[in-house]
Amino acid sequence: MNRKYRKTIIAGNWKMNKTPSETKEFMTEFKSIMPKGRWCDVALCVPAVCIPMAVRCMRETRVGIGAENCNANASGAYTGEIAANMLVDAGCKYVIIGHSERRAMGETDADVNAKVHAALKAELMPIVCVGETLEQRDLGITEDWISMQVKCALHGVPEEKIRKIVVAYEPIWAIGTGKTATPEQAEEVCEHIRTVIRKLYGAKIARAISILYGGSMNEKNAFELLAQPDIDGGLIGGASLVPEKFVQIIEAANQPTV
Ligand code: 13P
Repeated sequence: MNRKYRKTIIAGNWKMNKTPSETKEFMTEFKSIMPKGRWCDVALCVPAVCIPMAVRCMRETRVGIGAENCNANASGAYTGEIAANMLVDAGCKYVIIGHSERRAMGETDADVNAKVHAALKAELMPIVCVGETLEQRDLGITEDWISMQVKCALHGVPEEKIRKIVVAYEPIWAIGTGKTATPEQAEEVCEHIRTVIRKLYGAKIARAISILYGGSMNEKNAFELLAQPDIDGGLIGGASLVPEKFVQIIEAANQPTV
């Protein structure tokens, strides 16, 4: 983390977990144990049907609610899809774009780029996910792959809008596997992402962008991961479903930095 230049963000990704009633239970408990005072930005990205309940429960707090996906189009004949402006109207501040689980369902880099543009147009903050498979890591092409994903996702995003974007590095082999990247492995790629952004937008912008790590991050390993200079927060799956665990990760993000 480097709080001098950029925001620290702890974001939960609930994936396909919790009903609206369970959302209410979670938020009630979470609110009662949430750290007070100065702390990092906190986001909870929840299933679409849970958004109204999450927004209602967290109205008077500093927790931002987000969606897990959006459609690239503003409106039209796209049965079952949700547009970015609908999410904004429902009270969302964030939207996860290009999660590997969605890419596995067929979402391409071009789709990710179109969704990033749609989210920015609606003034949602996109949390753009990138990450390599174990096979790519073993082949030694992690950095090339990540460069390509970042460049595709940001294609055509103007300088004045780039600061609204958050990038999340999520190695696919670490998601839901309990196999976390070591702080060094995670830092190496997050630093690389910052270098890619520096080449595209310059040093000042690269320094200001928050880059998160995701993949089996939990209350035990968060402190060490967040102590890395280029890891500005976390995108947390499993551990964000349990209020006490999520709170402990937020507390780990409140550690002093250099
Ligand atoms: P886990 O924390 O459950 O590994 O999930 C990470 C993730 O995919 C967050 O988007």
